[in-house]
Amino acid sequence: MDVVIVADAAEVAERAADQIAAVILRRPDAVLGVATGSSPIGTYNALAERVRSGVLDFSRAGAFALDEYAGIDLRHPESYHEVIRRTVTEPLGLDPARVHVPDGSAADLTAAGEEYERLILAAGGVELQLLGIGANGHIGFNEPTSSFGSRTRQKTLAPQTRADNARFFDSADEVPVHCITQGLGTILDARELLLVAQGESKAEAVAAMIEGPLASVCPASALQLHRNATVVIDRAAASKL
Ligand code: GLP
Repeated sequence: MDVVIVADAAEVAERAADQIAAVILRRPDAVLGVATGSSPIGTYNALAERVRSGVLDFSRAGAFALDEYAGIDLRHPESYHEVIRRTVTEPLGLDPARVHVPDGSAADLTAAGEEYERLILAAGGVELQLLGIGANGHIGFNEPTSSFGSRTRQKTLAPQTRADNARFFDSADEVPVHCITQGLGTILDARELLLVAQGESKAEAVAAMIEGPLASVCPASALQLHRNATVVIDRAAASKL
């Protein structure tokens, strides 16, 4: 695992954008794995800036999101379908037909998970997966004790994750209880992993991911198994290393 420690969130965004840009310049039709949450927003903004100035073009690229809330109205502004459209598809100029988000509205989430796995395979797999990390060490919505071999499936959100995400909803009760998420095994199949984190609140999870044992209580420790994983963090997120 390559660990890159930079001064602040702005530098995290630029460094991560450089790495994604390198993939797209090498292969304009690359399939990217994209994450929601606040962590990658700076990276998306930095990439959008490069699209506006004409140095990057995502029009031939594809994208697969990590996860979605279960049972949420897909038009809800905080559904990950909407979040990905607003923060990734439109600002980067991706073709919406090539952007996929797991179907959290499906009646049969097991079948929806299997279908998502088939779609990723049919697209040739993910070239680079961008990740954030939850304060409890989750990646995607793989909460602590998720299996390292898991595939896209239904999960129950940890109380801490629901509390952390309550800020996006009108009330804590409105945060869905379940979700559908790529598994740790799905994520590990991407040819390159790039995790970004900033701020003191992530320092403990970051330390467990990098220096802790390989253990399902810290799902992000799965990155230790990957041969091409880069972690880009600011000084605050690195403060417990
Ligand atoms: C969310 C997402 C994750 C994200 C994490 C951290 O709930 N499902 O993909 O990485 O939690 O979120 P944030 O970046 O807002 O701290």
